[in-house]
Amino acid sequence: MIRAMARCFVTRKLPFEALDRLRREHTVEVWQGALPPSPPELRERAADAEGLLCMLTDTVDAALLDAAPRLRAIANLAVGTNNIDVGLARERRITVGNTPGVLTETTADLAFALILSVSRRIVEAERAIRQGDWRTWEPAGWLGRDVHGATLGIVGPGQIGEAVARRGEGFGMTILRSGHSPAPGRVALAALLAESDVVSLHCPLTPETRGLIDEPALMAMKQSAILINTARGEIVDSAALQRALEQGWIAAAGLDVTDPEPLPGYHPLLGAPNLTVLPHVGSATHATRGRMAQIAVDNLLAGLAGEPLPCPVEG
Ligand code: DGY
Repeated sequence: MIRAMARCFVTRKLPFEALDRLRREHTVEVWQGALPPSPPELRERAADAEGLLCMLTDTVDAALLDAAPRLRAIANLAVGTNNIDVGLARERRITVGNTPGVLTETTADLAFALILSVSRRIVEAERAIRQGDWRTWEPAGWLGRDVHGATLGIVGPGQIGEAVARRGEGFGMTILRSGHSPAPGRVALAALLAESDVVSLHCPLTPETRGLIDEPALMAMKQSAILINTARGEIVDSAALQRALEQGWIAAAGLDVTDPEPLPGYHPLLGAPNLTVLPHVGSATHATRGRMAQIAVDNLLAGLAGEPLPCPVEG
């Protein structure tokens, strides 16, 4: 059956061959900016689009959906869909897809890299050498914390949390998973925070998890514990984390995601001690981003064809 070509708007340049498949079937416009389109720019470009391939940096809300009345399919180049009003899209019969599964192990690698790096002060120590501050080996120089044998608390154990837990088991860590006790293998969040040496966040951003790690949660952690966030920045209260690091409620933190994101260079959190921050690179490997682009294109093609999406998001 010959299908009509639909107009698709892609909100960033994608250096992956997946886009060629989209171009073979539809008319594709790609945003050329180095930064994401602003909300008004996105509304303007999506105004007559039937398909939208968007990023976690694009807000797909009522204003956008109102401005794009022909939209039939949205494909997010991410597993997280907190940037999209999925319920509203569903009401308007717009299908929404995401990219689960393919980034699980890659993101877990990055979370574990942060656990090792923050525990053993790798970034700080490397920086000291470049600044000429390392003069000699010292018995008490650059002391960090053991990862092996420590207790790893996984908050929000989905696929990525489980992949991090497996890595922890390989390091001989004791694993705690948040959940409603007495579910097998789960402990209440309060117990997890109090008992873990490493607290690693892997929950989606929802109204329930926004600000989950706030001042009381940080105060409930051990003073020797570290916090790792590779999920979404808004799960952690940035101002409370800054106080926690400055006042020694916890020992250190490693963040791949922040609130706001990106953190401006003058943001007070960047002045806090014992903090390692990365630019949201959890899924950033050649192979994984290529697979994410394939799935996003598969989702868009299926949605525009009126077929079930390979990876649908239920609203
Ligand atoms: C996601 O997919 O939600 C990550 O944050 C980016 O890969």
